[in-house]
Amino acid sequence: MSRPGKPFAKGDPVVFIDRKEREYYTILERGKVTDIRGDQLPHDDIIGRQEGFVMTSQRGGRYLVFRPTLEQHVRLMPRGAQVIYPKDIALILIYADIYPGAKVVECGLGSGALTSALLRAVGPRGRVISYEIRDDFIRNAKKNLQNFLGEKKNHEIREVDIYERFEEREVDRLLLDVPEPWRAVETAFPHLRPGAIVCAYIPTVLQLSQYAETLHRLRGFGAVQTFETLLRPWKVDHISVRPKLRMVAHTAFLTVARRVEGTKPSAPKEQSE
Ligand SMILES: C[S@@+](CC[C@H](N)C(=O)[O-])C[C@H]1O[C@@H](n2cnc3c(N)ncnc32)[C@H](O)[C@@H]1O
Repeated sequence: MSRPGKPFAKGDPVVFIDRKEREYYTILERGKVTDIRGDQLPHDDIIGRQEGFVMTSQRGGRYLVFRPTLEQHVRLMPRGAQVIYPKDIALILIYADIYPGAKVVECGLGSGALTSALLRAVGPRGRVISYEIRDDFIRNAKKNLQNFLGEKKNHEIREVDIYERFEEREVDRLLLDVPEPWRAVETAFPHLRPGAIVCAYIPTVLQLSQYAETLHRLRGFGAVQTFETLLRPWKVDHISVRPKLRMVAHTAFLTVARRVEGTKPSAPKEQSE
């Protein structure tokens, strides 16, 4: 697992960065050697050392050696399902207001990318419950979570179809990343405490529209907002200072809403935004 500030031990994830800024992610094992284009990097030379050093292969290849950050872990870990990108995870944490001690339910677990961020944010007093229907994704996500965070007693996985069943009560925060979030929110909404936040990650406009209609029909939500984020990386290299040529552009829309009990105030008839 990743233990910032501690010397590397076997079982810890590590990231190598080459001179072209390419990143390579692996798990440290005694006696193992990572081969990067013919450069041999023995794990035994890393175990016991603090992160943040330059490792030189016998052929002269130089690599920066770090513990992966959460952002790197999410991008580089083995994927089962498509992950939520760091740019969106960052916004989810703040707009869904994931706080220490919260009881958070996420649907679906996928590769466990969002789950890693949620577990860090709720801390040891909080709980994260993940719904997932595919057992192969569950196995992969468990490995990813173990590699990054180690054993987490406050994380539970339910192999359940969220469209059919929702077992938790008094939920503080609900995160939806399933193909039909309108069905998931319908099952879950009676189990959210008043003031709870539901945040849905929705890739397409048609899904977004159907989801928004469902929130409206259920009459149990207020303070609804939808947005997307574009993160544009820059190349800053001596005389070449400009946006990079490639970026991850569209990923998904985020819709955030709050659970309301009783009748909410009706919206004015004409609104410009
Ligand atoms: C895009 S992935 C989630 C990725 C995850 N948020 C992450 O960051 O790694 C969507 C997941 O929802 C699961 N899923 C789809 N329908 C479901 C349902 N009805 N109940 C529970 N999980 C479901 C899929 O198997 C898939 O793993």
